[in-house]
Amino acid sequence: MALIALMPGDGIGPEVIAEARRVLDALGLDLSFEEAAVGGAAYLTAAHPLPPESLDLAERADAVLFGAVGDPQFDGLERELRPEQAILGLRKKLGLFANLRPVRLFEGLEDASALKPEIARAIDLLIVRELTGDIYFGEHSRGRTHTGLRYGQDVMRYDETEIARIAHIGFTAAAGRRGRLLSVDKANVLETSAVWREVVNEVRRDFPEVALTHMYVDNAAMQLIRDPGQFDVILTGNLFGDILSDQASMCVGSIGMLPSAALDEDGKGLYEPIHGSAPDIAGQGKANPCAAILSAAMLLRHSLRLTAAADRIEAAVAAAIAGGARTADLGGTLSTSAMGDAVLAAL
Ligand code: NAD
Ligand code: IPM
Ligand code: MN
Repeated sequence: MALIALMPGDGIGPEVIAEARRVLDALGLDLSFEEAAVGGAAYLTAAHPLPPESLDLAERADAVLFGAVGDPQFDGLERELRPEQAILGLRKKLGLFANLRPVRLFEGLEDASALKPEIARAIDLLIVRELTGDIYFGEHSRGRTHTGLRYGQDVMRYDETEIARIAHIGFTAAAGRRGRLLSVDKANVLETSAVWREVVNEVRRDFPEVALTHMYVDNAAMQLIRDPGQFDVILTGNLFGDILSDQASMCVGSIGMLPSAALDEDGKGLYEPIHGSAPDIAGQGKANPCAAILSAAMLLRHSLRLTAAADRIEAAVAAAIAGGARTADLGGTLSTSAMGDAVLAAL
């Protein structure tokens, strides 16, 4: 029996994870669940956003299903105690360096996309984002200059092994899709990116069947709106991948639709919607649970190799959407649990 760690977290995290759990339960699979506190919720009870018991559960479990962390009431805490450290800590401590963020338009959501329907319809891409390096995990500091001015400083850095291993993931993904890999960087300005581009070009030799191109991140942001159908797999670093994936979400209707997988070297994974805790709608039953439900599908596919069950979930979400089920972010009126009901009915 596979053990799934449930980490609902803050804000809409518990609301969307509850729906994902209902969908998993309905499949009748041999799964067991244990829940642990993370984020602000954990800070309140255990005085730390990632208590040792929660980290221990994540390590013991076959996979983690994570909601979201973050709460404005904790924005004033020192950085090490802020809710976001739960997800950053899990990624780093579990070595979850490979972040897969698939982006596709579900039929019927053309109207919810910020793009023209014919442009939105062509979207089927995968963002492969490096998740344990870059400016996120370089040295962070603040201080005063010799003239007394406050400064903040964050170091952007990648070494070649970190780049090569995520590049392998990107090339492998592209080889299994339409054979096109776009590496996104800022090599015209940043040394980190210059090394990134060099190493990606070296890894390409192992994948002669994949067509590799490079693009600067500012252009990539523009092209994602102009003609997103041109992209197959987008390979990029931690910071650029964070920003581009939120942007890509609106191209297919809502940030409430995008799931993600964060994988280690052996395929162990943490699965979470790309969105945050959405404090503006938390506790109101307004959140779209599809990103969390689709994250559960990714968990079954990648960590438990339950391909048929994963396909069933994805087909049920597609059918619910095609049947007109919409939460407010998609222009509809359904509550979080009613959207869950629609997916369950389609299942
Ligand atoms: P957010 O993703 O939480 O919300 C951005 C906007 O999208 C909000 O208007 C929100 O209502 C909407 N939204 C997000 N998810 C939705 C859903 N499922 N259904 C409908 N609408 C949805 O980003 P933010 O407001 O910048 O951040 C809020 C908090 O979440 C912060 O503390 C941030 O650090 C944290 N955060 C956490 C994660 C994570 O846990 N992985 C990811 C992103 C942000
Ligand atoms: C995400 C989030 C996180 C990130 C935050 C909460 C640390 O925005 O998963 O996209 O920046 O990686
Ligand atoms: Mn993000």
